[in-house]
Amino acid sequence: MFMDTLPIKTFSRRISRSLRDGQKQLLDEFFPTVKIDADTDFFKLRESYESIVLEIGFGNGDFTAQVARANEANLYIGAEPFLNGVASLLKKMQDASIKNIKIFPDDVRILLAAMPRKYLDKIFIICPDPWPKKRHHKRRLVQASLLNELSAYLKATGEIEIITDHAGYAEWIADEIAKCPSLELDVHQTGVELSEGWMGTKYQRRGVALGSSIHRFVLNNRSM
Ligand SMILES: C[S@@+](CC[C@H](N)C(=O)[O-])C[C@H]1O[C@@H](n2cnc3c(N)ncnc32)[C@H](O)[C@@H]1O
Repeated sequence: MFMDTLPIKTFSRRISRSLRDGQKQLLDEFFPTVKIDADTDFFKLRESYESIVLEIGFGNGDFTAQVARANEANLYIGAEPFLNGVASLLKKMQDASIKNIKIFPDDVRILLAAMPRKYLDKIFIICPDPWPKKRHHKRRLVQASLLNELSAYLKATGEIEIITDHAGYAEWIADEIAKCPSLELDVHQTGVELSEGWMGTKYQRRGVALGSSIHRFVLNNRSM
């Protein structure tokens, strides 16, 4: 079942510039072959893969395309309401014939309402929007309530990885994690380096170029 009402919006836009013809064509013709939604048979889908990984807010899909190519036995489910970003990932998938990605083009919380619990091996949240103004903090995606909800979708051995280049958000994330009885903080690294093998996402690279320190949190599932 999809949700009837949605909680507060955590993203700023669905579209930034008008879609080019090629992007429209990808969304009209290629997207229906790789979409995931409430009609998906989630259990059947799982049969073909070793692990199921969810990425929340994949932006232009840099990370999604890179990890999916490197790990073909896994399925990567990407949720992203920004349609220019969806079109960008579709292009990468088509160009590199990437078959192990499914896309949900909207708020991840709508997808979660349709997904079976204990389904996911890993969840990535990379450079979520920091919403720096105090009055916007309620729009931050990483909240204890969402983390607790996400833990219900993890298998017993599942984990959540969160990366941010925003120092204030990193402090907030640490506080929200501490409020989550269902998750245990396993790793909190600061100053995570980009490397030749991993050039980071667009926002990670921007953060590094601006001199920000990258924070990486890894959370283990505590719920049984
Ligand atoms: C700052 S961008 C980072 C994009 C990408 N992960 C990167 O590092 O380049 C944050 C992204 O999260 C998406 N987002 C925000 N709230 C979301 C939600 N509730 N469900 C799915 N995506 C969301 C936004 O649309 C935006 O593209």
